[in-house]
Amino acid sequence: MPVTPPPVATSRLGVNIAGRPILRDISMSIQSGEVVAILGANGSGKSTLIKAILNQAAATSGSVALFGAPARGFRDWARIGYVPQHSSLSQGVVASVKEVVASGRLSRRGPFRPSRTTDRRAIAEALDVVGLADRAGHPVSTLSGGQRQRVLIARALAGQPELLIMDEPNAGVDLGNQQAIADSLHDLVTTGSTLVLVLHELGPFAPWIQRCLVLSEGRLVFAGAPEAAPVVPGTHHHHPPESAHPSAHEGLIQGGS
Ligand SMILES: Nc1ncnc2c1ncn2[C@@H]1O[C@H](COP(=O)(O)OP(=O)(O)O)[C@@H](O)[C@H]1O
Ligand SMILES: [Mg+2]
Repeated sequence: MPVTPPPVATSRLGVNIAGRPILRDISMSIQSGEVVAILGANGSGKSTLIKAILNQAAATSGSVALFGAPARGFRDWARIGYVPQHSSLSQGVVASVKEVVASGRLSRRGPFRPSRTTDRRAIAEALDVVGLADRAGHPVSTLSGGQRQRVLIARALAGQPELLIMDEPNAGVDLGNQQAIADSLHDLVTTGSTLVLVLHELGPFAPWIQRCLVLSEGRLVFAGAPEAAPVVPGTHHHHPPESAHPSAHEGLIQGGS
């Protein structure tokens, strides 16, 4: 049996922007079915790493591979879902919530195009999961920033991607809806999708996270179990230290049990 190539692998990846090194010497791989959090202080290079993975930022040195193929020249984008940091749905979008979410199904073309019923069900489920079922017909322009972020998440979920990358999906989303989004990952995880989540803190996502990658000043400084990850400056402790009082940050990491 062939070994499944890792959905994401970087080798000695470096990215300079305007002559400044933003990412340096990053080598890592994310295996099929893994749920990985990328952590790090603001400006540490998390979003740039995601863009480099998605071939939206050029590698100055080293390389990126997606599903075993060089990211440069990769064409099979239907396998990958991406929710960028901050809602990029502008105020000017006239489409309805449902139309935007439905666009997440468009890439699923070809001989195995799912039936309309399957499409409709995936769209309805995704809307339900992010708590926007009652807004399906509303123009996106009437939504708040947090709601628009949830529309983008629903669009990505509707596409049922093999690899889903979300850059701070919890930013600007209230805790109840963060929980709903985290819960929604259940289906993707159980069907074997690979998830890469840039997170400020693990929050409701903690039970899903199998491994953390921590960036500092453009370097990968830690890769390993969430329990062992260093505390990122400027965030809450994303896990309670052994000796801590169990009250304050309880529930940030639950270890899945
Ligand atoms: N397009 C850009 N032009 C100039 N500087 C950038 C650009 N994108 C990112 N940077 C810089 O790269 C560094 C890392 O940014 P970013 O990847 O957004 O970090 P993070 O997502 O961890 O907050 C920051 O210092 C940021 O100012
Ligand atoms: Mg960022």
